[in-house]
Amino acid sequence: MKLFSGSSNKPLAEKIAHALNISISPVEIFIFPDGERRFTLGERVVDKGVILVQSTGTPADTNYMELFFLTDAVKRSGARSVTAVIPYLGYQRQDHVFRDGEARSFAVIVNIIESLQIDRIVTFDLHSIKLVELFHAPFVHLSALPLFAKVINEEHMIDNETVLVSPDMGGKRRVGILAEMLGGIPTVSIEKNRDLKTGEISAHIVHGEVKKRVIIVDDMISSGQTIVEAVKILKKHGAERQWVFATHAVFSQKAGAVLAKVEVEKIYITDTLFVPEEKRPGNLEIL
Ligand code: R5P
Repeated sequence: MKLFSGSSNKPLAEKIAHALNISISPVEIFIFPDGERRFTLGERVVDKGVILVQSTGTPADTNYMELFFLTDAVKRSGARSVTAVIPYLGYQRQDHVFRDGEARSFAVIVNIIESLQIDRIVTFDLHSIKLVELFHAPFVHLSALPLFAKVINEEHMIDNETVLVSPDMGGKRRVGILAEMLGGIPTVSIEKNRDLKTGEISAHIVHGEVKKRVIIVDDMISSGQTIVEAVKILKKHGAERQWVFATHAVFSQKAGAVLAKVEVEKIYITDTLFVPEEKRPGNLEIL
């Protein structure tokens, strides 16, 4: 078995290689004067099972191109099978057309991935469960929810004043699953509306009763605005202690600075995406 990593999340690739008791195989990435890149595998892969690790967060386009070229290099070099571990699939929120004239960008990405004839794709916590159906290739959809449940229990966050909160309607199902894992604790749902032009968010509570201890659970944090609005409205409704759990730390724009000002005890994320030191707020914990 061989494992190659793109450049988006080398620390995660190292951990996977370590768990498999192998080393990351070398890849030479040569950058031409015009910015184009050439990928050359540094090891033979004929008849080998190959794992590629490449997350496709910011910059999504560059990271996807790396994934595409690496896959092609591996296939052309005679690998027996290719498993692509893409812990975060960029463009997944553009899975349908919101307004006339838009592209269905995620469907385009899926078509390209499918054309590469990858044997198996592994990813985490998709924005919507329906996205799995867009792929024909064998698809392993993993979740960080069991890990979140473990931490919530270990940190004794639950008492009879605790609720789980979905900061938007799309996350209701996810929060319901976690609530079950935690023995059926009550849930609250927030309805969020985002102005498609300005990105501004407005929110209100549509279901459930806010209690003193609140655990907000989301699939990803990008600008951080969803969390800002959720924390604000929950505090207004009586929340005294708040925690945040999110699988993917997309952390676009000034998310690090935005999150540093949010009044929560801790923000738990996973390592599906690499977060540079300068974007990590003081209360961030990477699971
Ligand atoms: C959206 O529907 C997702 O579940 C997240 O809530 C959202 O993508 C977070 O984005 P941001 O941090 O920019 O508000």
